[in-house]
Amino acid sequence: MSVDEFKVAKDGVNPEEVLKRKLYTGAEIPAIGLGTFGSDRFSGEDIAKAVKGAISVGYRHIDCASVYLNEHLIGESLKDVIKGGIEREELWITSKVWNDMHGEGDVLKACEKSLKDLKLDYLDLYLIHWPFPNYHEPGCDVTSRAPNAQPYIHENYMKTWTQMEKLVEKGLVRHIGTSNMTIPKLKLVLRDAKIKPACNEMELHPHFQQQEFFDFCIKNNIQPIGFCPIGSPKRPERDRTEEDTVDIEDPVIVKIAKRHNVHPAIVCVKWAVQRGQIPIPFSIHRDKYLSNLESTVKDPLTEEEMREIAGIDKNCRLIKGQVFLWEGAKSWEDLWDLDGEIKH
Ligand SMILES: NC(=O)c1ccc[n+]([C@@H]2O[C@H](COP(=O)([O-])OP(=O)(O)OC[C@H]3O[C@@H](n4cnc5c(N)ncnc54)[C@H](OP(=O)(O)O)[C@@H]3O)[C@@H](O)[C@H]2O)c1
Repeated sequence: MSVDEFKVAKDGVNPEEVLKRKLYTGAEIPAIGLGTFGSDRFSGEDIAKAVKGAISVGYRHIDCASVYLNEHLIGESLKDVIKGGIEREELWITSKVWNDMHGEGDVLKACEKSLKDLKLDYLDLYLIHWPFPNYHEPGCDVTSRAPNAQPYIHENYMKTWTQMEKLVEKGLVRHIGTSNMTIPKLKLVLRDAKIKPACNEMELHPHFQQQEFFDFCIKNNIQPIGFCPIGSPKRPERDRTEEDTVDIEDPVIVKIAKRHNVHPAIVCVKWAVQRGQIPIPFSIHRDKYLSNLESTVKDPLTEEEMREIAGIDKNCRLIKGQVFLWEGAKSWEDLWDLDGEIKH
């Protein structure tokens, strides 16, 4: 689908000015990335075009996953970008192994497929997308349950993790990490891993700050990557419940946005970067992805504004993961070990 040639935009942000975070390996990861999950709203072509556009305005970090079903199209964009003069080493490309590829021998196959689709010979970061091998049909209803769904079984997770470690040893991926974890699960991984997770991708936005888990990651030298940084205001109906709150309508966020003369989404992105997680906001619209990137290099929030936002946490998890529940599990809360114990 190689549409137009890649050119660096004149009105973009100099990527050298964008903050980078140092991982325990010494590698540097850009402090903001572009999300690529289009859900039901955008085609893979739209997203691949946005990836090219985002790199042209200065993004160097792209958050991909095989389950988003668009890596083969994003790969065309990456090929054009590299052909157009951006060095592979300048880019930070993440992908994730999906739940149906946790079995013996499958992680390598999944990684090789992502590499082939993305037209790369290594990934900067490869994550285990969810800590359950529970497959569900894309777009299925939240009440559906897979018959073979299992709770977290640490021994099995470590078998998958060992396969992840082999990818590092083979040079196919530079870092490995976790996603949708909890403190009790990560403690076990830290105890048993040969190669420790470099990053943990987790839901983080002003109404879901996960302070204890965030602090746990920082203390253990695991860089938090925050998904749904704007509170995913356009997520599909099936991912909404009546109790969900809306970050970009919060009076504190709206007030600070007015003060800075920006959209409330920008306040969420600034807060994320200044707090220390790496937000990966999604938009295929140039004005939005450009303003998200620009927001990280100018007009920071004040300490007082950061404190005000720290005070509006509503513990409102949006991506509850209901479809991963196993038979016998009571509710989505069972996935998240709320009382500090892993639920079986
Ligand atoms: N690891 C995981 O399990 C996991 C789970 C969920 C998400 N993710 C990753 O996280 C990424 C982001 O999550 P998300 O897309 O759910 O939520 P999000 O980034 O919080 O919200 C995205 C929505 O915010 C709007 N938006 C973005 N920038 C804006 C701006 N400057 N002004 C106004 N509106 C703006 C966009 O609207 P328009 O579409 O109208 O532009 C977009 O639909 C995903 O794409 C994916 O890569 C990972």
